[in-house]
Amino acid sequence: MKNIAVIGAGTMGNGIAHTFAQKGFKVQLIDISQKALDKGIATITKNLDRMIAKEKISEEDKNNTLGNISTFTSIKEGVEYAELVVEAATENIDLKLNIFKELSEACSEETILASNTSSISITQIASVTKRPDMVIGMHFMNPVPIMKLVEIIRGYNTSDEVTTAIMELSKKLDKVPVEVNDYPGFVANRILMPMINESIETLYNNVAGVSEIDTVMKLGMAHPMGPLQLADFIGLDVCLSILNVMYDGFKNPKYAPCPLLVNMVRAGKLGVKSGEGFYDYSESKKAEKVAKQFS
Ligand SMILES: NC(=O)c1ccc[n+]([C@@H]2O[C@H](COP(=O)([O-])OP(=O)(O)OC[C@H]3O[C@@H](n4cnc5c(N)ncnc54)[C@H](O)[C@@H]3O)[C@@H](O)[C@H]2O)c1
Repeated sequence: MKNIAVIGAGTMGNGIAHTFAQKGFKVQLIDISQKALDKGIATITKNLDRMIAKEKISEEDKNNTLGNISTFTSIKEGVEYAELVVEAATENIDLKLNIFKELSEACSEETILASNTSSISITQIASVTKRPDMVIGMHFMNPVPIMKLVEIIRGYNTSDEVTTAIMELSKKLDKVPVEVNDYPGFVANRILMPMINESIETLYNNVAGVSEIDTVMKLGMAHPMGPLQLADFIGLDVCLSILNVMYDGFKNPKYAPCPLLVNMVRAGKLGVKSGEGFYDYSESKKAEKVAKQFS
C-alpha cells in the first residue's frame, strides 16, 4: 500500500495523516471543512517542529512529511487512488453510515475501508457497503504520533486477508496492533470507560475531591495520568457517548453513565476542548502544562 486517504482532519485525522506521511506513505487528507484542513496541516506542522526541537527528526524529514500530504474537500476526488481509507470523521452513526455508503461506490474494488470509531459497531458500518469483508476497525489512540497501540477490530464479516494486511501495515507505522472482536467498546473503552465512570461516581458520592482521586490512581496504580484528567482529554461528551453505546449494547446497568457526567456535558463542560471539565483549562498556560505531561 502506498496511497492512504484519511477522512476527517480533526484531532485524530491529522494525527493519523501525520503518522502515515512520516513513514513515506502518500496521504490524501479529506474534510468537509477547508478550515479544518488548514487547522489540521497547521497542527501537523507544529507537532513536526516540536519533534525537530527534541532532535527526533530533521528539517528534511519535516518537509518530506508535509510534502506527502495533499488535501481535499471532496471524498470522491480524495479517494480516487486510495488503497486504504481510514475514516476519522465525527463520532456520529448516521454520518459514518453515509460516508461508508459513499466510499463503497467511490473507491476501487480493492480498497480496504477502515474506521477509527471509538464505539460504533464495525459490523453495522460494514453492512451499508458492498464489501463487508473489506471493512475493519483501526482504532488509533490519542495523540496518534506518540501512542503505540492500534486496536484492530474485526467486524463479523472482516476477512482474514484484510485483517492480516492491516496488522502488517500497522507494524510498518511502528505501532503495536492488537486484534479484537467487534462488541460494544471493543477492549480499550470497555475497560477504560467503566473506570472513568466509577471515578466520576466516586466524586459524585463525595468520597474524595478531583485531585485526590487522580492522585490515588497516579501514585497508587502507576497510571501516568489520573482518570478524571484523562476524561478531560478525551472529552466528556465522547466519554458519555461511549458509555451510552455500551449501556445500550449490553443492556447492563453497570455501564449507566454517572448523573454528574450527564450534567457536566449538558452544562457544556466538556474538558480541555471547552476550557473546563474536572480541571480548569481557561488559561492557556495551564492547558500547556497539563498537555506537556502527555507529550
Ligand atoms: N479524540 C479522541 O481521543 C479519539 C480517540 C480514538 C478514536 N476517536 C475517534 O476518532 C474519530 C474522530 O474523532 P476526533 O476527536 O478527531 O473528532 P474531531 O471533532 O476533532 O474531528 C472530526 C472531523 O471530521 C470532520 N467531518 C465531519 N463530517 C465529515 C464528512 N462527512 N466528511 C469529511 N469530514 C467530516 C469535521 O469537520 C472534523 O474536522 C471519531 O470516530 C472518534 O470516536 C477519537
